[in-house]
Amino acid sequence: MKFFSTSIGCVACTLALAAPAQAAGSAAMAAEYGCVNCHGSYPRGESPSLERLAEKMAKYKGDDAGLAQKVTSYRTGKALEHIDAHERISLEAATALLRWLAEGGK
Ligand code: HEC
Repeated sequence: MKFFSTSIGCVACTLALAAPAQAAGSAAMAAEYGCVNCHGSYPRGESPSLERLAEKMAKYKGDDAGLAQKVTSYRTGKALEHIDAHERISLEAATALLRWLAEGGK
């Protein structure tokens, strides 16, 4: 029984540690989600670099409504243009990453 409650305690602390990483985007998160595969220092094909993305997203800084709309269109993709990595991601993760970019992506 003691072992049981100890492991529950650990699950709770792992979740507590994981939560802030989800809430705030970061370069580490962009790497973890594979964003840098296309948007890294050597952008692939037509993908804008992270720097360029930050410039584009800057207009949503402090504009939560605008950002939310952008997140929706980002996750839906444009007609004829679907990017798996954009569409697979959760609403929370997409919001965190796009907000991080809007705030400069540093
Ligand atoms: C398979 C390659 C690929 C991956 C992986 C990828 N992207 Fe993209 N992304 C693109 C391309 C290509 C565009 C340009 C689309 C365009 O300009 O219409 C783009 C555009 C964007 C835009 C700009 C949208 C706009 O309206 O201008 C943002 C923001 C973005 N990506 C964020 C991300 C984030 C965050 C991740 C990681 C979860 C990610 N991307 C992963 C290829 C990728």
